[in-house]
Amino acid sequence: MKDYKIKKLISEKEIERAVEKIAEKVNEDYFDQSVLLICILKGAFVFTAALTQKIKSEVKIEFVRVSSYGNSTMSSGNVKISDLKELNIEGENVIIVEDIIDTGISIKAMKEELIKKNPKSIKVCALLNKEERRKVKIELDYVGFDILNEFVVGYGIDFAEKHRNLPYIGIIEEIKN
Ligand code: IMP
Ligand code: MG
Repeated sequence: MKDYKIKKLISEKEIERAVEKIAEKVNEDYFDQSVLLICILKGAFVFTAALTQKIKSEVKIEFVRVSSYGNSTMSSGNVKISDLKELNIEGENVIIVEDIIDTGISIKAMKEELIKKNPKSIKVCALLNKEERRKVKIELDYVGFDILNEFVVGYGIDFAEKHRNLPYIGIIEEIKN
């Protein structure tokens, strides 16, 4: 893609409200228990940070890197998970925190790996959900927004490592000359 512009899709305020709503639900679900948030790097770092600050239950954070994309807007379907070996989640109430669920391939692979490590429970939380693109079945427990099949950036989410710093979510629109 040579030239493109970014069109605002979800504002900072709307994201903030969605994060609050998810946190309220988590606080209800785990009011007397601790939770372990597993942030999927890099895309979910902003979302995880915001969510963490709204959680009232005892909370721990871990980071795992899951990549399937490379520098293109097409998923390779090839999932690489790092820092998994050192991760101890036995007996924990795990919530996997993702930026976007697209085909669902990454999160499915991730969930399967984590289940092997004997957590007490495991849930999936995603800021954005592209249902239309799903290739595998996966249950989502907390979702911020359902979006259409468009390539988005901002709020931690990148296009070829760029635009993670945008405070809102925008759509990449190609400019055709
Ligand atoms: P899946 O395995 O196809 O569900 O891939 C999900 C991952 O692909 C997300 O965690 C993102 O890292 C990346 N991804 C999917 N859609 C987008 C997008 O619109 N913008 C940026 N990254 C995306
Ligand atoms: Mg990701």
